[in-house]
Amino acid sequence: MLFLILATFVVLSSAMPSNQIGMEKDIPDVYMDTPALIAYYGYPVEKHEVKTEDGYLLTMHRIPHGKDQQPSSDRPAVYLQHGLFCSSSDWVIMGPGKGFAYILADAGYDVWMGNARGNHYSRAHVSLSTDEATYWQFTWEQMGRYDLPAEIDYVLNQTGQKQLFYVGHSMGTTMFYVMGSLRPEYNSKILAQFSLAPVGYMSRLQTPISILAKFVDQLEWVADELGINEFLPNSNVLDMVGSALCKDEAVTQSLCSNILFLLCGYDSQQLNDTMIPVIIGHVPAGTSTKTVIHYGQEVNSGKFGRYDYGKVDNLKDYGQDTPPEYNLSLVTAPVYLYYAENDWLSNVDDVEELHSKLPNVIQKFDVNDKKFNHLDFLWAIDVKELVYDNIMALMEKHLQT
Ligand SMILES: *[C@@H]1O[C@H](CO)[C@@H](O)[C@H](O)[C@H]1NC(C)=O
Ligand SMILES: *[C@@H]1O[C@H](CO)[C@@H](O)[C@H](O)[C@H]1NC(C)=O
Ligand SMILES: *[C@@H]1O[C@H](CO)[C@@H](O)[C@H](O)[C@H]1NC(C)=O
Repeated sequence: MLFLILATFVVLSSAMPSNQIGMEKDIPDVYMDTPALIAYYGYPVEKHEVKTEDGYLLTMHRIPHGKDQQPSSDRPAVYLQHGLFCSSSDWVIMGPGKGFAYILADAGYDVWMGNARGNHYSRAHVSLSTDEATYWQFTWEQMGRYDLPAEIDYVLNQTGQKQLFYVGHSMGTTMFYVMGSLRPEYNSKILAQFSLAPVGYMSRLQTPISILAKFVDQLEWVADELGINEFLPNSNVLDMVGSALCKDEAVTQSLCSNILFLLCGYDSQQLNDTMIPVIIGHVPAGTSTKTVIHYGQEVNSGKFGRYDYGKVDNLKDYGQDTPPEYNLSLVTAPVYLYYAENDWLSNVDDVEELHSKLPNVIQKFDVNDKKFNHLDFLWAIDVKELVYDNIMALMEKHLQT
């Protein structure tokens, strides 16, 4: 599916007169990375390198305080974790007043943004190179088991605080539940977790992806045979093509929004068309092929379980021939669930199943907008009023108790 989309972009772009692909009229935000964007809008920004137990070197981005404010160790730390194919840029590309990272920084928080192993910003390792297949042998399990603990410990160490707030979108919630069940000692480091478009169970997935998931075994075989270990890395060509096809003057702009809707649910009211080139400029940011396959396995099995290596290797790795399920009763951190009825990737009934297994869900919120979709949690025109204001009110409440 996604390959098809990319192919469409490339074919359409080659059919266009080259003068239309000129960059001069593009929004500069398309080409700036996360720290450059933050600095461009006049906010303080820091880059931090964090080493995981298994040797991956991750880059975190931090906005230590709001514009025209002073740094202070009293600012409560908030950790933001992006979803599949995404990066720290998710939280800033819509700009000040819109991106959650800016809103939190201006509201008095110390904002830390993670980047999962294998994405555009976290492609280093103490000994492995991204050219080696071994580097790419991970899924969101390792992101939850190693990346999050390393990043959370790093933030707590840097700020001298004992606990932090965690906000995750999509895969950023999956990673959290993995951490909470495989590394339960980390639950006590979480003041509260806010799950945006939670993804644990996926058997009721409603998008064309659910059909594709049926071919996950074939995908695994093909990827292994061809050595395709990396999936949808960030590409400048795609950025330029996306910018040309999706900008305000382009007749093809509706094609761009329709591709997003096809994957995530239709919601033209909440998508700011002007910003589509910026989104394409930052997404996809890449991950391992295995990460995608692991999700495909979830769709097919109906379980929230560990990676399925096949009978023989499962026996070797897990001591049983099917992959064990994550024990969600160990996720004892306080959790808030935010979901939407038009979110095709995070189905309401799947969220209900997750809710029934998590022992400490304080509250769940069905976003008050019937058309709200999976990506609206990051980029909707009214996301602040519909979701973020509610989260910040709850954070205040936690800080007062
Ligand atoms: C942070 O880590 C360093 C090195 O491990 C340690 O010396 C320091 O005491 C830690 N600081 C806090 C506030 O935990
Ligand atoms: C859409 O984005 C543009 C560029 O950032 C901005 O000027 C405009 O106000 C936005 N529109 C809405 C409805 O938020
Ligand atoms: C899951 O964890 C709970 C709490 O520690 C424990 O009682 C239960 O036996 C575990 N379930 C499985 C299937 O391991």
